[in-house]
Amino acid sequence: MLLKSLAKIEPREWTGSAAGVETTLHQLSPYIGKIKSTIAASLISRFTRKGDSVCDPFSGSGTIALEAWLAGRRVTANDSSPYANLLTRAKLFPYASVKHAFADIEDVAKLADKTADKFDLRRVPLWVRQFFHPETLREILTWNSILSSRDLYFLRSCLMGILHHQRPGFLSFPSSHTVPYLRRKKFPRSRFPRLYEYRSLRDRLERKVSRAFRRIPDLDTNLDRACFREDAARFIPSGRVDAVITSPPYMRQLNYGRDNRLRLWLLGVADWKRLDEHISPSEKNFLTLIRSCLALWRPTLLPNGRCVLILGDTWSRLYDLSLPDVVETIAVAELGGYTVECRYCEEIPMLRRVRRGYCGSQSETILVLAVK
Ligand SMILES: C[S@@+](CC[C@H](N)C(=O)[O-])C[C@H]1O[C@@H](n2cnc3c(N)ncnc32)[C@H](O)[C@@H]1O
Repeated sequence: MLLKSLAKIEPREWTGSAAGVETTLHQLSPYIGKIKSTIAASLISRFTRKGDSVCDPFSGSGTIALEAWLAGRRVTANDSSPYANLLTRAKLFPYASVKHAFADIEDVAKLADKTADKFDLRRVPLWVRQFFHPETLREILTWNSILSSRDLYFLRSCLMGILHHQRPGFLSFPSSHTVPYLRRKKFPRSRFPRLYEYRSLRDRLERKVSRAFRRIPDLDTNLDRACFREDAARFIPSGRVDAVITSPPYMRQLNYGRDNRLRLWLLGVADWKRLDEHISPSEKNFLTLIRSCLALWRPTLLPNGRCVLILGDTWSRLYDLSLPDVVETIAVAELGGYTVECRYCEEIPMLRRVRRGYCGSQSETILVLAVK
């Protein structure tokens, strides 16, 4: 059942900023290719009902998963990037309150004081060292190691969120926020010496955690939530689901490894190029992936189930069709078992594009496939 017409998507769902209205849990740390939370919320309310089970096999930063939980849906999320998995877990299983988070920070700080000189910075690759004052880096490594060994994933997500930027609340030398590039030309050390001084971690982390808890709605912790880190081509949720709602990797366009390389390095991924071969697939690999996924999802979906896909407008050279047409062809003509319920296409406003003037996706299509 189509709950509301897709044609009635409000333009502000695409154009306006969600930052002032969404829960601040969405703002733990940036993620390239993140879907706008208001679009996620609107798709969830249009295509599922309270109590339904929603699966996002390419969860990225967990936007759809969190919105589904907030809307009273049972959620299964998956993403094979360790950074995506960390953020999704933090959003689906946050602390009950800022007080609980601060109690853990206090414990970690005590331990960090005892182990601070353990790290030999000469073993850290130069490209990582270039981002930080040595004392700040030593603190980052110490805290990161303790947060990892205690599985304090929420605090670790917040640490990722303050890792790099030029603002005072961040830990790096002047750098961009989403993708790690140093801004030495814009902020030369000779003119901005203060931006290159030591930055203490604990106070910045506490402020970050407070910001994350600034706008939190009531959370129903009795609802089922699960989060996995598997290859979507082989990932099957434990029970059947009412809807798969997801934005798969944009074919050949975004590099989820390269663009998150600094955070991934702290999460133990030394070779982001290798990770990118898997999570930022070439056209051929993407087509194999989406074919496997659509075949896998079909028997997982309940009768009346839906597959709601948010797709970029990349052109497939192999099919000589746009990405939404390719996915439709694979689902309906090649695999069968799906019909197209509706398609909705909208231009991505320049402000929402990953990079200004970036020549990648200029529009997004929502393709809704119903189970036959
Ligand atoms: C467009 S992003 C999802 C963004 C997400 N909707 C959000 O709001 O943050 C696509 C995601 O697919 C993940 N991915 C790519 N290939 C994958 C695979 N084979 N298995 C699991 N996840 C994969 C990437 O790590 C990336 O996070």
